[in-house]
Amino acid sequence: MEKFANKKIVLAVSGGIAAYKAADVASWLTKNGAQVHCVLTKAAAEFVSPLVLQSLTGYPVVQDEFVTGPGWGIVHIELAAGADLLAVIPATANIIAKIAAGIADDALTSTVLAATCPLFMAPAMNTHMYENPATQQNLQILRGRGWQIMPPDNGRLACGAVGQGKLPAVEAIELELEQLLLAATAEPGRRDLAGKRVLVTAGPTTEPIDPVRYISNRSSGKMGYAVATRAAERGAEVLLVSGPTALQPPDGVRFVQVESACQMREAVLAEYAACDVVIMAAAVADYRVAEPADHKIKKTGDNQEMTLRLLRNPDILQELGEAKQQQFLVGFAAETHNLEEYAKGKLAAKHADLLVANDVSRADAGFDVDTNQIIIFAADGGRQTYPLTTKLAAADYILDAVAARINI
Ligand code: C5P
Repeated sequence: MEKFANKKIVLAVSGGIAAYKAADVASWLTKNGAQVHCVLTKAAAEFVSPLVLQSLTGYPVVQDEFVTGPGWGIVHIELAAGADLLAVIPATANIIAKIAAGIADDALTSTVLAATCPLFMAPAMNTHMYENPATQQNLQILRGRGWQIMPPDNGRLACGAVGQGKLPAVEAIELELEQLLLAATAEPGRRDLAGKRVLVTAGPTTEPIDPVRYISNRSSGKMGYAVATRAAERGAEVLLVSGPTALQPPDGVRFVQVESACQMREAVLAEYAACDVVIMAAAVADYRVAEPADHKIKKTGDNQEMTLRLLRNPDILQELGEAKQQQFLVGFAAETHNLEEYAKGKLAAKHADLLVANDVSRADAGFDVDTNQIIIFAADGGRQTYPLTTKLAAADYILDAVAARINI
């Protein structure tokens, strides 16, 4: 499946030294199925060859608003029409100022003025130019008009100075673009989960040792919070039961804070009967301390060892699976090896309807990162591998798989 099939993207390149990096972005978008139309300023064409962009995208590169040819209309209007995203990469101080002022004196600025799609820019320039109040005020104006502006990185700039102004890494830009494109995909106002009660668990659990210490794990809660966020945006009535995380509860979601696995179990069971969908994204601790102390445990004498006796925690998902009525159950499997085998085993053992598996040994998937690469196994035999993507987009993939099965 190509992530950006049927997407039309206008890649606007202005004339900074970082312009050559636009070629990587153009190539990545094209490889993922997008139609990429590049429009360049005169200066940009000095830094990156239009022929490179044309060869990578397969479309003619627009540099002149007065080009004509058989079948060509007014080029900047045609470029802007029906675009899913317009991205200015890199955006120089000059182009930012012109766009803020509404100037349309070349193909790029005319296209920007004619665009009605989501707008993105990645400014890149010398630190003093970036920090200049003129540039900062222009960026502020653009933000106010709904532009998504990615701040430049700190680092060594082409001019030799060190400071803020560097174009962010291409991979970081790609992630931003992906988020915008996929957010734009979920047709605004899609409410395919309206009327559904969805319970989501998220985060780690903490299992107390004494009043100041606990055992826990590295779950950040980001995946579960993303699922709760998107489920609410898609119309569901969402209850988020969360272990301790550093995240803000999403808007429009009923929120219950818990700490231990036993507390999570109670909170979930209290709501289970009324739920249509339960998505167990929490990393529930498998064991708890058998006898947590009610006072802080002190170092005693010269004792060099201490032993904690652990008890197995209840398996919440399994319990839900065994008591299942109308509920549609989704479990997660974070594995470092034998992903498929363990995931399928859990799907069956826990009587889940879907199991979302991810390989947490990858640096770009799993704990505490903003991206994830998931495979969904279904009790009906379905199996789908998804591309590496943001956790919000992964949440949409999961909810798509749920919606396809409950809305029949
Ligand atoms: O068996 P394992 O812990 O690997 O299974 C992971 C799935 O089971 C996750 O969906 C997790 O939320 C859920 N789980 C649970 N109760 C536990 C342990 C895991 O509900 N005690």
